[in-house]
Amino acid sequence: MTQEKHLIIGASSGIAKALAKKLATNQGENLLLVSRDFSQYDDEQFSNSMKISISDYSEQTISLTCEQLTSSLLEQVTQVYMCNGLLHTPAFLPEKQLANFSANQFCQTMFANALTPMLWLTHLVTKLKAKPFCKVVVFSARIGSISDNQLGGWYSYRASKSALNMMLKTAAIELKRTAKHIKLIAFHPGTTDTALSRPFQKRVAQDKLFTTDFVAQQLLEIVKRHQVDGELSYVDWQDKAIAW
Ligand SMILES: NC(=O)c1ccc[n+]([C@@H]2O[C@H](COP(=O)([O-])OP(=O)(O)OC[C@H]3O[C@@H](n4cnc5c(N)ncnc54)[C@H](OP(=O)(O)O)[C@@H]3O)[C@@H](O)[C@H]2O)c1
Repeated sequence: MTQEKHLIIGASSGIAKALAKKLATNQGENLLLVSRDFSQYDDEQFSNSMKISISDYSEQTISLTCEQLTSSLLEQVTQVYMCNGLLHTPAFLPEKQLANFSANQFCQTMFANALTPMLWLTHLVTKLKAKPFCKVVVFSARIGSISDNQLGGWYSYRASKSALNMMLKTAAIELKRTAKHIKLIAFHPGTTDTALSRPFQKRVAQDKLFTTDFVAQQLLEIVKRHQVDGELSYVDWQDKAIAW
């Protein structure tokens, strides 16, 4: 039997690195990692991993990268994790009010959170042929739930995760017909101690701020548990379904 491979896109993410550590076997020979920044992957544990260094997440880069990955390699991929996400940059923080909303922030946030995973899905989907199944996890967030929006604010980040959820739901309907072996999971990790949440951690109770190690473990158990059923699962770190 050929060895199962796991593909992690956006591998520099704090949660992605914790996932990679848990998934790696034989110095990570089962891992295909995609990132713009591999500075955290010097350890021996990843010496056999395939590290695909990209300069950006343009459609051209994503399409070329998928072309360069051979079919025989992608056919062994049984789990995909898309970890990309953007909440703030040196130039902006999430909007507190309409007055903070800008086209630039909206476009950058939509690009990273909604468009980037959808482009990967588009270019990968016909190549993910692992049997009996391939499970694809895309990092969403509870904040993308429209019915759960009690607090307001964070316009661009909320909208980008809602848009992502809608596109994944639409893709699940299509894949139910065209690629029955693919299972899509939109995952909310909970507030996790990474660069993304760092500016907002002061307001979070200690027991509500998770380590990347904890979240990675929870996610691996969720991936094991979920069967291929033609549906998009939108779940949190406890595997509880989130209302749309
Ligand atoms: N941390 C939390 O509290 C929390 C809560 C809810 C949801 N999430 C979601 O969980 C996922 C992982 O988050 P994290 O906390 O591990 O994040 P992180 O450590 O800040 O990592 C950022 C990730 O986003 C990618 N990225 C950054 N800028 C990008 C851009 N302009 N275009 C495309 N990709 C870009 C990076 O890719 P490279 O590897 O190429 O650098 C990396 O994968 C995200 O989707 C996030 O929204 C996190």
